[in-house]
Amino acid sequence: MRAVSIVGIGQVPVEKSSERSLAELGASVVRSAMEDAGVDRLDALFAGNMLSDELQGQKHIAALIADEAGLYGVEALQVRAAMASGAAALRLAYLAVASGEATLAVAVGAEKMSEGVAEPALSKALDVQREVRDGATMISRNADLMRMYFDRYKVPEDAFVNFPVIAHGNAVTNPYALFQKAVTPRKVRRSRLVHPPLRLMDCSPICDGAAAVILAPSEEARAFSDHPVRMLGSSVVTDRFRVEDRKDPLWSDASHVSALKAFRQANVNRMDVDFFEVHDAFSIMACLQLEAAGFAEPGEGWRLADEKRIRLRGDIPITTMGGLKARGHPIGATGIYQTCEIVLQLTERAGKNQVRNARIGMMQSVGGAATTILTHIFGV
Ligand code: COA
Repeated sequence: MRAVSIVGIGQVPVEKSSERSLAELGASVVRSAMEDAGVDRLDALFAGNMLSDELQGQKHIAALIADEAGLYGVEALQVRAAMASGAAALRLAYLAVASGEATLAVAVGAEKMSEGVAEPALSKALDVQREVRDGATMISRNADLMRMYFDRYKVPEDAFVNFPVIAHGNAVTNPYALFQKAVTPRKVRRSRLVHPPLRLMDCSPICDGAAAVILAPSEEARAFSDHPVRMLGSSVVTDRFRVEDRKDPLWSDASHVSALKAFRQANVNRMDVDFFEVHDAFSIMACLQLEAAGFAEPGEGWRLADEKRIRLRGDIPITTMGGLKARGHPIGATGIYQTCEIVLQLTERAGKNQVRNARIGMMQSVGGAATTILTHIFGV
């Protein structure tokens, strides 16, 4: 396996509802990323998308995006791992370049959640026979976990308030974020109870978006970019599918093991990580990931938010560009947005959102109720 670097990125602003088609969104970010890398051809395209067949009635989306982008005769495959589809596309692009099968590959994520009704389609990331038929949704599953956390650890009622406050604060200066607007703790506390104890401000939004990154062998990376970013680790681990089958529903073993595997590949430990793009689809997910990945003890993850240690100037910044909560979570595109943001941070192009002296960035993406976890670690 050879070392792989990111040599180009492309993003469009996340929108509540985009006028462009899914294929146009995907193709536009592929073209921007190619322009950023200064290339006019690619060997392979991997597209992360979860919902197109249900919401757009369109399958076979990778070949459609490739065609729309003018990439004829390339390998083009759709990659799916529920809400972690973007990160899964990144992993396949990484493996294609690392193995020598491709020299230049693009990982693109595109999703349009605004067409049709997203919630029932999202719920299918759970076990349809045994969970969805009993009424479970992604929202209800995360509300259950949050309730369990409150009951077990007896944390204050507003323990999670600073997760959205900090995410929204960071999104204000991210031109690609859906909500470029700060929220106060009071606004979070008073936001609508969506599924108690989960409030509107604990949830990521329904939205549209697309992002792409170009991967090349590290030994050639500077031919394409003045500021390549190395991919140091890539791992995917699955847990017992249903939360109720896990020994401890509040401990994400997949997140833990996936982080450890990626740390080993990257030859780093959590103390080396300068910032962590978590999968904060719900505040409780961010909290549980901080614990499982080793940044806090079980029952203590909320304190990192409460003590504001997760903000840009804190000891473990998260959601540095707004996270899923405020940049937005256009499902299959999310992992690629996270990658673009990490590239901007590590190359000191994150503007007002810059994390000081950022050398190692980590991200996790979650499919289903913490069932599939991908960890990626990047460095310069
Ligand atoms: N955070 C902050 N504001 C939000 C929001 C969110 N998550 N979702 C919607 N809003 C805002 C809208 O912008 C709108 O504001 P406006 O009146 O100023 O325009 C207002 O709240 C109402 O929007 P609406 O779309 O009617 O909200 P909704 O009640 O239909 O949807 C949720 C709210 C939380 C139910 C929806 O965002 C949701 O389902 N989120 C979870 C998505 C999900 O499961 N993703 C996968 C996770 S793994």
